[in-house]
Amino acid sequence: MEQGKVLYFPNLAFIPEEKCGVLFSSRLADRKAKNISFNPATGLLKGALAGDHERSRLHKMMDAFAAAALQIILDLCPRYASGLEHARASYRPLEIAGREYTRLKDDKLLHVDAFPSTPTRGRRILRLFSNINPSGRPRIWHIGEPFESLAEKFLPSLGRPISSAAYLLAAVGATRGRRSAYDQLMLRLHNSAKRDAVYQANTPYEEFAFPAGSSWICFTDQVLHAAVAGQYALEQTFYVDVEAMAGPKNSPLRILERMTKRSLS
Ligand code: SIN
Ligand code: FE
Repeated sequence: MEQGKVLYFPNLAFIPEEKCGVLFSSRLADRKAKNISFNPATGLLKGALAGDHERSRLHKMMDAFAAAALQIILDLCPRYASGLEHARASYRPLEIAGREYTRLKDDKLLHVDAFPSTPTRGRRILRLFSNINPSGRPRIWHIGEPFESLAEKFLPSLGRPISSAAYLLAAVGATRGRRSAYDQLMLRLHNSAKRDAVYQANTPYEEFAFPAGSSWICFTDQVLHAAVAGQYALEQTFYVDVEAMAGPKNSPLRILERMTKRSLS
């Protein structure tokens, strides 16, 4: 995973108690939010348009999924335990194919994850996905070139990060914590790749269909990915300290520092 691969579990299924009931409806999602999010630390559910019954079912499913996902990561990667944050989980009940987004929000375009409101200052974004589609439909991803190749193409045109902008954003509360030089570069990398129609049309990728009842884990700040079709998936986000990695030199932070010959934290 640290080398930019996707770890795929064909038979790791998350089976909600409520198999084909109220949870499998695209009407559950507030269209503006697109995903329903769950904070395991507070138990708070966001982005759901649900009555009390549905809400309590959703809560139960998300709570169980978040706990199971944490256990899987701790079992598979015990070395991450010392630098792991169990962040939000999400439920994605909307069909991806055919949905229109603004370009930068469109995850049907190849990108590496970088969130404008949540700077990581180099910490890794590790995500576990599980396809729980009740009618057996796969979730289809495109997986692109290695991070280094993407960075080589775009880095020369990204410009130098500005530190005063970062402090200003944090001061006005636009970001959760300071946006570092690393965060600025990662956001520009995300945006430039999505905006570049020529790149999107010509860069090679592999298509992979994750079957219903399968799960996969990868560092989405490193794996160039696009989700092009599918409905009903669960996702759990973790942040991992670079120092907790087996090979910190493979992190986007260290890669970009080597390429720019400067410290980015
Ligand atoms: C993404 O992270 O780009 C979306 C992944 C998905 O929903 O399958
Ligand atoms: Fe993404």
